[in-house]
Amino acid sequence: MLSAMRTLLLALALAGCGGKQAPVPQNLEPRQVRANELRAVSDFAAIRDRAERSRALFGEMARVITHPRCINCHPNGDVPHQRMTMELHDPPVVRGPADHGVAGMECMTCHQDRNQPYTRVPGAPKWHLAPIEMAWVGKSVGYICNQIKDPKRNGGKTLAQIVEHNGHDKLVAWGWDPGADREPAPGTQAQFGELTAAWVESGAECPEETR
Ligand code: HEC
Ligand code: HEC
Repeated sequence: MLSAMRTLLLALALAGCGGKQAPVPQNLEPRQVRANELRAVSDFAAIRDRAERSRALFGEMARVITHPRCINCHPNGDVPHQRMTMELHDPPVVRGPADHGVAGMECMTCHQDRNQPYTRVPGAPKWHLAPIEMAWVGKSVGYICNQIKDPKRNGGKTLAQIVEHNGHDKLVAWGWDPGADREPAPGTQAQFGELTAAWVESGAECPEETR
């Protein structure tokens, strides 16, 4: 009796959907988001190929990395950049022997450990330039990706330390709390940390290096 009912229900269910499996959506283009938002890790789950998913995750991370709030402090010369236009720092300052400026014009002469509302000077603890081997200005996303993975050029960091850095470092955090009327990097630092972790878990693959 029970099994007859089960058969009947099964037959009805199959009839209801024409006996076919619903097609798996094959849209691999990640969903559209606003310029100030980041896609979530789950938005990339539909990309079945692990290496391809990893490269797509880095592509999303790159929307933060190449934002002026980050790249202005990762110049390919001796002078920081500033503003959305990435113009050279005015007043003129230079990186000096240890990326902290030179005597009399040290970064922390002007930049305090937090943003200063009256003078507009941005600030965060230990404000200084990223070393030259971490230069991102003028580099392709693929180049930056390989640089970040390379312990010789990333400050001796393991991939786990890169995940930690992106998710919690105070200079990175400033990118989402830049003070004055500056545009923050897209999304949140927490999302950026999650994307970095997912990129590492999927093999830390890099998009093709073009320059
Ligand atoms: C005030 C300057 C400054 C800003 C702003 C800044 N960085 Fe950096 N960044 C540094 C310095 C200095 C280092 C090297 C110190 C270290 O490795 O801990 C560094 C290192 C890094 C590294 C690890 C080393 C590597 O391979 O490049 C990553 C990743 C990074 N920054 C990401 C970011 C991101 C993402 C942002 C924006 C949300 C950002 N940074 C904003 C100064 C800055
Ligand atoms: C004489 C004071 C002074 C010194 C010294 C100084 N800065 Fe600045 N910096 C400023 C001021 C003021 C601004 C804000 C300009 C604005 O947005 O109007 C600024 C902005 C910046 C920005 C741009 C933030 C953005 O994304 O628009 C970066 C990056 C920066 N400084 C890095 C440094 C570094 C690194 C050093 C040391 C090598 C340094 N500065 C030394 C005064 C100074």
